[in-house]
Amino acid sequence: MNNLLKFAIGIFLTLAVAWLAFVVGARVQFGDLSPISESLGEDNEIPEDADLFPMPLPGLAELGSSEYLALGCNTCHTQQVRMVEAGFDVERGWGKRPSMARDYIYQKHVMLGNTRIGPDLTNLGTRVIDTEWLHKHLFEPQAVVPESVCPPSPFLYDLREFSSDHSIELFDEENNSSRFIVPSSRATRIVAYLQSLKQDYELPEMAFIEEPESIDLEKLSASDSDLATNEIALESAALPDWLNNQIASGKEIYMKAAPGGGLCFTCHQPNGQGLAGQFPPLAGSDWVLGDKERLIKISIHGLMGEIEVNGVKYNNVMAPPGIPPGSLTDQQIADVLTYIRNDWGNSASAVSPFEVAMVRDKIKGRAPMQMWTAAELNNFDN
Ligand code: HEC
Ligand code: HEC
Repeated sequence: MNNLLKFAIGIFLTLAVAWLAFVVGARVQFGDLSPISESLGEDNEIPEDADLFPMPLPGLAELGSSEYLALGCNTCHTQQVRMVEAGFDVERGWGKRPSMARDYIYQKHVMLGNTRIGPDLTNLGTRVIDTEWLHKHLFEPQAVVPESVCPPSPFLYDLREFSSDHSIELFDEENNSSRFIVPSSRATRIVAYLQSLKQDYELPEMAFIEEPESIDLEKLSASDSDLATNEIALESAALPDWLNNQIASGKEIYMKAAPGGGLCFTCHQPNGQGLAGQFPPLAGSDWVLGDKERLIKISIHGLMGEIEVNGVKYNNVMAPPGIPPGSLTDQQIADVLTYIRNDWGNSASAVSPFEVAMVRDKIKGRAPMQMWTAAELNNFDN
């Protein structure tokens, strides 16, 4: 009987923890996202008369999104610009910046997609603007992209032998013959939806990523800090392999927005400069370069309240980092901290998993979501 009770409690706890992590956790992290202006004013407020993004889809496009879903287009097409390595999808021309949770708030069915057999469509509307091309492609992709494996949808069109009102000509060069298609209202909705796919706005949490060339140009007009970055890049050639590996792995965690990642870049930015008024910089920060124990504590439990970084005051909240929050392992924390201590002109000793484990043990009584305050961290008795 006693065992049965334990067993039941065990099952209950297992389910409760999963529910907390996946339902409540996600809700806390993303639940109250709302449209926002491309950047915030000095007071951290949305400027008056600013356009808010994302915008809801126009009605026709909204209807088209249901058709798109019903036809299973999202089995082969994702709608998420990802940052595998800095600018990866951006380099492929699929977007100007990685997609953020906020971009999806108006989608009833979030169209992240399953697999990438075809190109990501997040920004199709900025790439392909020709309505006729989209209709031809929808009717028979092979008519415009001969090798395409994108499935045709002829049932969405009336096929005619002669041109008529609203018909679109499909010219076949081989046979020197023409076919004419007239879009049904379903086809019109789908094309309206495809044309509406545009992530052509910035968000406070994610600005456009600069093209690699323009970054290089900036480096040429080097300010002092850029020079320092270049020197580090040169020096890193002389670092021992294990350290280079740790820095590379840490950078991956810094840039990763998936389980096992730290998501750090979304707030502190890929260049470690943070965002004025909101997210403090990691470049040149005493909190990063100084005492390791403080730094490790921040990486385990997060940070809140007033803090001064590089002479500027911030008063914001950083939940325990990682996806899900507070889930980074000792090794991951060691790697990401070693990385932020050694990029953007920063140069400081590596952090080992053992050091993280020591600090974790020292503060093991602390509740998982109880964030530190700067005052608490500076009081070394903690
Ligand atoms: C079997 C996987 C698959 C499915 C399902 C699929 N596509 Fe595609 N799609 C592709 C591939 C591969 C390409 C690249 C070749 C091409 O351009 O035709 C592509 C290309 C496209 C393009 C051109 C993209 C660009 O950037 O040029 C559009 C638009 C498109 N698909 C729309 C759709 C729509 C709408 C549906 C649902 C009716 C759909 N696809 C279903 C595989 C698929
Ligand atoms: C959701 C946004 C967000 C994410 C993600 C995030 N931080 Fe922070 N971080 C902040 C904010 C906000 C503060 C300042 C908190 C305050 O005002 O008390 C901060 C402060 C810090 C500080 C101390 C101040 C400084 O600038 O030196 C460090 C170090 C730090 N974060 C490291 C990280 C690392 C490492 C990661 C990823 C593992 C990370 N952060 C992920 C928002 C974030």
